[in-house]
Amino acid sequence: MRKKWRLVLWWQCVLPMVLRARGSPPDDIVKCMSGTTQNCTVTSSYGTFPDRSVCRAAEVVYPTSEQELVAAVAMAVKNNQKVKVVTRYSHSIPKLVCPDGNTGLVISTLFLNTTIRVDPTTMLMMVESGVTLREVIQEAATAGLALPYTPYWWGLTVGGMLGTGAHGSSLWDKGSAVHDYVVGMRLVTPASPQEGYAKIRSLNLDNPQMNAVKVSLGVLGVISQVTLKLQPLFMRSITNSLRSDLDLEDMVSSFGTQHEFGDITWYPSQRKVLYKVDDRVTMNASGIGNIDFMGFRSTLTLELVLLRSSEETQELTRDADTKCTMAKLQVATLVNTGLGYKNNDVSFTSYPVIGSHHRLQASGGCLDSPRDALLSACPWDPRVKGEFFHQTTISIGLSNAKDFIIDVKMLRDMVPKGLCGVELYNGILMRYVKASSAYLGKQEDAIDVDITYYRSKDPMKPRLYEDVVEEIEQMALFKYGGLPHWGKNRNLAFDGVMRKYAMGGEFLKVKKNYDPMGLFSSEWTDQVLGINGGVSVVKEGCALEGLCICSQDIHCAPAKQYFCRPGKVYKDARVCTRI
Ligand SMILES: *[C@@H]1O[C@H](CO)[C@@H](O)[C@H](O)[C@H]1NC(C)=O
Ligand SMILES: *[C@@H]1O[C@H](CO)[C@@H](O)[C@H](O)[C@H]1NC(C)=O
Ligand SMILES: *[C@@H]1O[C@H](CO)[C@@H](O)[C@H](O)[C@H]1NC(C)=O
Repeated sequence: MRKKWRLVLWWQCVLPMVLRARGSPPDDIVKCMSGTTQNCTVTSSYGTFPDRSVCRAAEVVYPTSEQELVAAVAMAVKNNQKVKVVTRYSHSIPKLVCPDGNTGLVISTLFLNTTIRVDPTTMLMMVESGVTLREVIQEAATAGLALPYTPYWWGLTVGGMLGTGAHGSSLWDKGSAVHDYVVGMRLVTPASPQEGYAKIRSLNLDNPQMNAVKVSLGVLGVISQVTLKLQPLFMRSITNSLRSDLDLEDMVSSFGTQHEFGDITWYPSQRKVLYKVDDRVTMNASGIGNIDFMGFRSTLTLELVLLRSSEETQELTRDADTKCTMAKLQVATLVNTGLGYKNNDVSFTSYPVIGSHHRLQASGGCLDSPRDALLSACPWDPRVKGEFFHQTTISIGLSNAKDFIIDVKMLRDMVPKGLCGVELYNGILMRYVKASSAYLGKQEDAIDVDITYYRSKDPMKPRLYEDVVEEIEQMALFKYGGLPHWGKNRNLAFDGVMRKYAMGGEFLKVKKNYDPMGLFSSEWTDQVLGINGGVSVVKEGCALEGLCICSQDIHCAPAKQYFCRPGKVYKDARVCTRI
């Protein structure tokens, strides 16, 4: 045993310092018949979807200008062809990029990546929808400006962030959602033959339809250009503080109002919480701190393979003790080395880490690499047998946050080793997000609870203590009425979700108006929007992958002793429990 941990420590900590990993950038998302742009498959950066389906398209186009984009949409509309938009790296987990069947058109925003204008006087930035978060941050900073709240991962595009309601962490100003800093948009939608089959709709905040377009799941048309309202660039000071989780339920609401960029990472099995005390400081504060988050760095393939295979062994032998020990070691290593925060370009010495906002707001080291022989890659790169996970991300209204934490603690106390596996993916991340005027935006101020956990390569294989995470998932969704993140989650999170949106009907009206034929819709988006049945897929083993909530034992894995049973704390939950 001891030897194994030493080996892991070696791969994890020592080797990467010796060999500075260069690694391969992410693979292409769309692959077509050799040498053509036809007969294609489309995937996500994780290499698969929640239902593991393969998604096909007849053709992919790569417009390089708005005119080419309009032409692409017009061609699809004229041919009555289904259309979907795919981004550079495609980090949405649900099947938002799949046109139905195999005759659809996929429009990639890969080359719609121009920053059109950044105006320091008006503090407006106009970009094409395929510009990545990393480029937004860089171009804004060059003009002395900043987008104040963003996701933490560089590899998202502006169109993708808006489409899925992506956010950072803040209860200040308009909150942490990127779409709440949008002041203008140009969207290409279907149009009548007289209008040439496609048209540009230019919207600003005076137009109420903006509330539909800001978060649209891609079903209204293709976003061409976006205008963002920025702020003068500023400095931040960050201190990560590891504490006991004894008073977490009391801290969870107040912490978000105390610190502008604060977030919370909870390690429930270790009874510890990492509070990110993160505030704006005066511009004359000095510091060249930055973040290169460890979880987003290019990681040695050998290390990824080793970690995955040790996790698979623990699952196979039901070895929760080793999981808990490994989690402790991993979290301690991460926290002690600053998680990737650095006081300067070289190393982490101590908190606070002070630096310019644009060097601290997001990172993505693994995007940056020449193509090599895949010696290293992003940890979730599907070409490597590395990380493979589910991600359950649900925002819970702040008024319910305390009771939710108390319930999870009660469950943790009943099954003390049940959440060690979650800590191997850096625990439960909690980020703040505010109510939005977007029809599919957050309905109230909330804490977004983000849980990443082991997924088996075999969809019929149950996971160690899967009942615990399933109970938390159902508790968040149903007992506390949480809203699933549109770009993450497993199928069950979206069943009946539109009932939770007061203005859902208004969204559907705009959709009917913009795309009456539903060419930008698919079976999946219709199910999510409640237009065409539900999202659940009921079949043998469906609850293991979150395709359904179990109602019979056969939805779990009775042959492997996993049966459908009520939750331990939330009795209305139905989870796959090993008996
Ligand atoms: C498209 O690819 C599939 C799978 O590779 C193949 O079966 C099919 O014949 C191809 N279709 C065309 C039109 O080339
Ligand atoms: C846009 O993307 C292409 C393809 O990755 C790249 O070659 C080009 O440099 C990018 N342009 C800008 C302005 O970033
Ligand atoms: C920063 O500037 C403000 C006024 O602009 C001043 O009050 C403060 O003392 C300065 N702080 C430092 C650390 O120089």
